Amino acid sequence: MCGIVGYIGAQPAAPILLDGLTKLEYRGYDSAGISVYDGKDIHTVKTKGKIKELRAMVHDGQDLLGTVGIGHTRWATHGAPSDINSHPHTNASDTIAVVHNGIIENYLELKKRLQRRGYHFQSETDTEVVTLMLDYYFNGDILSTVVRVMHRLEGSYALGILNKDNPDEIIAVKKDSPLIVGLGEDGNYIASDIPAILKHTRKIYILEDGEIVRLTKDSVTVYNADLEEVDKEVTEIQWDVSAAEKGGYEHFMMKEIHEEPKAVRDTVNPRIRDGEVFIHELRMTPQQIRRISKIFIIACGSAYHAGVTGKYVIENMARIPVEVDLASEFRYRDPILDKSMLAIIISQSGETADTLAALREARRQGVRTLAIVNVVGSSIAREADDVLYTWAGPEIAVATTKGYISQLSALYLLGLHFGRTLGRLDDAVYHEMIDELQVLPEKIGRLLEQKEKIQYLATQYIGLKDVFFMGRGIDYATALEASLKLKEISYVHSEAYAAGEMKHGTISLIEDGSLVVGLVTQEHLYGKIISNIVEVRTRGAFVLAVTNEDNKEIEKNADYVFYIPKTHRNFTGLLAMIPLQLFAYYVAVAKGCDVDQPRNLAKSVTVE
Ligand code: G6P
Repeated sequence: MCGIVGYIGAQPAAPILLDGLTKLEYRGYDSAGISVYDGKDIHTVKTKGKIKELRAMVHDGQDLLGTVGIGHTRWATHGAPSDINSHPHTNASDTIAVVHNGIIENYLELKKRLQRRGYHFQSETDTEVVTLMLDYYFNGDILSTVVRVMHRLEGSYALGILNKDNPDEIIAVKKDSPLIVGLGEDGNYIASDIPAILKHTRKIYILEDGEIVRLTKDSVTVYNADLEEVDKEVTEIQWDVSAAEKGGYEHFMMKEIHEEPKAVRDTVNPRIRDGEVFIHELRMTPQQIRRISKIFIIACGSAYHAGVTGKYVIENMARIPVEVDLASEFRYRDPILDKSMLAIIISQSGETADTLAALREARRQGVRTLAIVNVVGSSIAREADDVLYTWAGPEIAVATTKGYISQLSALYLLGLHFGRTLGRLDDAVYHEMIDELQVLPEKIGRLLEQKEKIQYLATQYIGLKDVFFMGRGIDYATALEASLKLKEISYVHSEAYAAGEMKHGTISLIEDGSLVVGLVTQEHLYGKIISNIVEVRTRGAFVLAVTNEDNKEIEKNADYVFYIPKTHRNFTGLLAMIPLQLFAYYVAVAKGCDVDQPRNLAKSVTVE
């Protein structure tokens, strides 16, 4: 999704903006641009394509002199990717430049009004409306003009605004799209996300919806929508710059896969005390847990797949009914909710627009919300009643790996906690699972040591057009995520099936040489899934099975077997996912795809 960066200070702005935009590349984008005020005028350079093209156009920033500026990476919503639709958007006299993340929902109505007043639009974007509204209402003071315009905008927006008549300041606004302010020694910053400014400062303000900021080179003032000053707390970023760098790996994705043992350890270990799960940040009392009649797990993308696993795991451990919903469906399907229910909201970024809206809907209807989130201080983390952070650290590759794995870990902890509180888990089984959770990192490490095997296999399959993943129970949830991983980064068409469903239609696609990945980790379902494997093999499929290390029998039925270390059956989804993430990665690399920034995708989807 779109990325914003802004700087005002003593240093040349353009290199800082370009560097910040590069750090935001992971969010996914199709064009980029910057505006810099050079002491006389605002100069804007923007282009469709990658930041390296923008860099070349401005000779790494040397062509744009000045110490105040804003920059943007655009992920097209209104209007195709093009030079003219790229941000910043300026008015006819080039006195106002605007960068925007989000969607102005009433832009057509505002556009018509401006057109009636004689304004001409250059682009097809909703953002240009903001620029021209600022032009129309401009009263000499950019701050009060922004407030006036803000009241007329509907939708979501993080904005960064530069004005030639108020050249010593940047104005920024946040509503339903992420924006932070960085407080530096030699100037101040705005950005969509921390990595963009981490090199310069660790002190940030996390803006709330409706807040407006005025940045000068040596001051930052935050206001509410009535222009009253707001006291903000400084958040100190703990993680290191190196956490957002590749650290010797060719791609962020590979680095992040290798960080999975740590992500699991950091998520699990602090929540185990004296052999018991102890989720210290959870404010739900045992009495409140006992009153839960039903759980909704709500999320998008991979987080939704983690939720599907969560359903199996929580129902098994705690015997509470769980329904899993895609956030984009939940918010509009008029769900039947009451106060005895709990909504678990899962999001790596904590900013996904649909997930945030679903959280708000659940809260509006009086349902208690518990968020499983990775980004500290994100909107979902702030708005939920309880937050269980997944300590995976910053995830840069668009395709989530360690984020997903740590979400599973958090769900395991919750299942154990609820099951124990409700007395639904046998003592020995409970302790066995806790011990098992703590050795998962070491078992992931063992799987990573075998990555060459997966690499070899992946290179055999780069010519593939279709891949089918199938499994039953938890293995079905893993199949969903494995299939998404493969298609999103390697552009190979893939589908995931509950194995019992294959013969209700999809089996007609199986022919000689089709690749079917069979997930076979649920011992009580071995017989069933093997029958499904036999069915596709008889029709010519090549079967790759992922199974437990003691299931050697499978070799009779599969063409290739990848073994995962033995673990409790509730946790196999975590281990089985590691080789399948690697498989997707190696296929994508072998095909020469842009692994970390797949086409058309965004890391954090902040629009509906
Ligand atoms: C995007 C990302 C996915 C992610 C999904 C939900 O589509 O590319 O990797 O699973 O959003 O994101 P969230 O931040 O809410 O987990």
